[in-house]
Amino acid sequence: MDCCFMCGTDMKQKVEGEGGNKVKVFSYSEMRKATHGFSGANKIGEGGFSSVFRGRLKDGTIVAIKVLSADSRQGFREFINELAAISDIVHENLITLVGCCAEGSHRILVYNYLENNSLACTLLGSGRSNIRFNWKARVKIAVGVARGLAYLHEEIRPPIIHRDIKASNILLDKDLTPKISDFGLARLLPPNATHVSTRVAGTIGYLAPEYAVRGQVTKKSDIYSFGVLLLEIVSGRCNHNARLPQGDQFLLERGFYFFHRIQINYSRNREEFMHSKPGLMLISIRHGHTMSKEN
Ligand SMILES: Nc1ncnc2c1ncn2[C@@H]1O[C@H](COP(=O)(O)OP(=O)(O)O)[C@@H](O)[C@H]1O
Ligand SMILES: [Mg+2]
Repeated sequence: MDCCFMCGTDMKQKVEGEGGNKVKVFSYSEMRKATHGFSGANKIGEGGFSSVFRGRLKDGTIVAIKVLSADSRQGFREFINELAAISDIVHENLITLVGCCAEGSHRILVYNYLENNSLACTLLGSGRSNIRFNWKARVKIAVGVARGLAYLHEEIRPPIIHRDIKASNILLDKDLTPKISDFGLARLLPPNATHVSTRVAGTIGYLAPEYAVRGQVTKKSDIYSFGVLLLEIVSGRCNHNARLPQGDQFLLERGFYFFHRIQINYSRNREEFMHSKPGLMLISIRHGHTMSKEN
C-alpha cells in the first residue's frame, strides 16, 4: 500500500493508522504545485522546526502546508500512526488536519487554512494587523481556547497533553474563533530543535516550573501555559519584552504584582474595588464565563 506515495505521481489516498483511523496522503508533487514550488510569496510563517506555506489544492481548497525540518526523520509508518491518532478529531476550537505527505525524506502536514493568522501575529505582533480585539473578542478567544484544551484533556481517550500552548499556536478564523494548533505532535519534534530538549517540547515563557526543570508533563503544565496565555490575551502584551525596563519585562511578574495589589484593595474596601478597573475586569471575566456556560 505504501508504495503509492513513493512513485511521485499525483496519487492521493487514505492510509490507515494503528488505531484504524485514516489519514489522507498527498504526493510531494501535489504539495509543490499547491505552493508554487514552496515560493517565498506563499510562506506564511516559520517555527522552531517547520516552515508554513499557504497552498491551494487541486480541488481549490486553501490549506496551510507545514513542512517539517529535515531533522524530523520519522519512518513512514510511525509518522502515519502519529497523525492517524489526531486525524478524526473535530472540535470548533481545534485545527483540522486535512492530510499529510510522507515521500522520501519529506514530512509535511496539511491543515485547514486560518484567515486571521495567530494570536502572536495579530494581538501581540508589531502592529501589522488591523483586527480590533475588544473585550468581547478577547473573552471569546479565552473561552474558546479553554474549551479546546478541555476537549483534548477530558474528552479524548487517551487524553492529549498539548505541551506547547502559546500565542503562535492559537490560530484565528475569519470570525475570530480560536483554534488550537500543533496538538498531538510531540513525537514529531526533532530532538535538536532550538526551543526543545529531548524531554521538554514547550516554549520558554510558557513552561510550568516542574515541566522546565524535571520534564514532568501533566495536564497541569498545559493549564500553566494557558494561564500565561490568558495574561497575554487580557493585557495584549507578550509574556516577555526585553525592551521594557527591568521589573516590567516579565508579564507573569507584573501579573503577580497586580494580583497582590488587588487582594489588598479587595480586603480593604470591597465596594470601591468592584467599581475600579481591575474589579470591573474580574466581573467581566466572571460574566463572560457564565455567558459561555449558558450558550
Ligand atoms: N493553519 C494555519 N493557518 C494559517 N496560518 C498558520 C497555520 N499554521 C501555522 N500558521 C502560521 O505559521 C506560523 C508558524 O507556525 P509553526 O511552524 O507551527 O511554528 P510556531 O507555532 O512555533 O509559530 C504560525 O505562527 C502562524 O502564523
Ligand atoms: Mg505552531
